[in-house]
Amino acid sequence: MSAIIPLADKDRIFTNVYGFQPWNLAAAQKRGDWDNTKKLMEVGQDAIIEAIKASALRGRGGAGFPTGMKWSFMPKESRDGRPNFLVINADESEPGSCKDREIIRHDPHKLIEGALIAGYAMRARAAYIYIRGEFIREAETLFAAVQEAYDKKLLGKNAAGSGYDFDVFVHRGAGAYICGEETAQIESLEGKKGQPRLKPPFPAGAGLYGCPTTVNNVESIAVVPTILRRGPTWFASFGRENNKGTKLFQISGHVNKPCVVEETMGISFRELIDRHAGGIKGGWDNLLAVIPGGSSVPLVPAAQIMDAPMDFDGLKDLGSGLGTAAVIVMDRSTDIVRAISRISYFYKHESCGQCTPCREGTGWMWRVMERLREGKADISEIDTLFEVTKQVEGHTICALGDAAAWPIQGLIRHFRPEIERRINEKNGSAPIMEAAE
Ligand SMILES: Cc1cc2nc3c(=O)[nH]c(=O)nc-3n(C[C@H](O)[C@H](O)[C@H](O)COP(=O)(O)O)c2cc1C
Ligand code: SF4
Repeated sequence: MSAIIPLADKDRIFTNVYGFQPWNLAAAQKRGDWDNTKKLMEVGQDAIIEAIKASALRGRGGAGFPTGMKWSFMPKESRDGRPNFLVINADESEPGSCKDREIIRHDPHKLIEGALIAGYAMRARAAYIYIRGEFIREAETLFAAVQEAYDKKLLGKNAAGSGYDFDVFVHRGAGAYICGEETAQIESLEGKKGQPRLKPPFPAGAGLYGCPTTVNNVESIAVVPTILRRGPTWFASFGRENNKGTKLFQISGHVNKPCVVEETMGISFRELIDRHAGGIKGGWDNLLAVIPGGSSVPLVPAAQIMDAPMDFDGLKDLGSGLGTAAVIVMDRSTDIVRAISRISYFYKHESCGQCTPCREGTGWMWRVMERLREGKADISEIDTLFEVTKQVEGHTICALGDAAAWPIQGLIRHFRPEIERRINEKNGSAPIMEAAE
């Protein structure tokens, strides 16, 4: 059992994540949003950044970079007249991820109020919310919610009576996974092809239109007003050292009740699934493996994850990651080699093609994965494939190369006997082996 106490209803930040109440401004205000936002801002820009640092909030977009520290990289005053910008990443294209869309369609005012406060803290002139192209209804809601905020003078000149002028623009993407990468997103916002930039310069130095920019995930921004209202120590009271706060988990796959749920960081996998997802289909003995953080993180076999803490460090210790907390559960009916091969196809399809290891490597890895799936390979190719993943990992402009390499590494690490079994079976040369843990 986990020492972590499950989240009580009174401590939920996202009280309308299931859309039981309307999303609109009047309903959001009843839930506490936009309640004297001016007062939250009056403490001053640096005090807000310090509060977010004290809350120990880590970015919810996948990498888990400390949010307050990221904000502190933004210039405090412009030496050359360039404005600062905030970009809010609502691209949410990681397979398994489906939390930001719930915030946007059911609780958009948390995000818009968060944009104003975060933008103010970073001295930003405006926020651009970059929303995934396929989120059609979500974009409609977001446009309407932003308009409501302008109509009530919560945005624009003297936003929320704070004396600070701030605009929010909603920009619809065209549906490319790579436009979720922060610098590709900036390129796309500028009207160019969405291809990641080489870093440095980092966005805080030269980002959108060459101006200092911070890119944050929707969830990272939407939790900010509640953190300030209830205090950073309240937020930091949840979870474990270095892994604080509450988190939206997205549970899909072979569970009885797939769901999106806000929970305490570090809750054990078993408790998360039993409490909110109705358990594993066919019972716990039927669990095969879990991809705990969206398709780009390595899978973890059943025995290792059952009692693991679901947070950044707990999953890192298992050779995987929390990512976006998109928990993909696979039972023993899963063709695990096929599942990972399908993920490889996704990364091949989404590679922007700029760097050779990713452009060539993703296709190469997928083709070998397909042969392994059918057993039409030599045993030695398993090691060759692993070696190629190591040549791609860390040798590309952006982390899509790593994302393509890691799922295959996880498969080989934990399910090598299953891959060998298929090859041997195809060749008719060896006894059938059991899948490894
Ligand atoms: C290929 C790729 C796709 C990404 N897609 C997303 C995405 O859809 N949403 C997101 O918030 N971050 C995504 N990221 C991470 C962003 O680059 C960036 O780290 C994040 O938006 C920062 O927000 P945070 O600090 O609040 O976590 C992606 C990264 C890569 C490499
Ligand atoms: S790693 Fe892949 S997606 Fe990223 S810049 Fe290089 S080619 Fe493009």
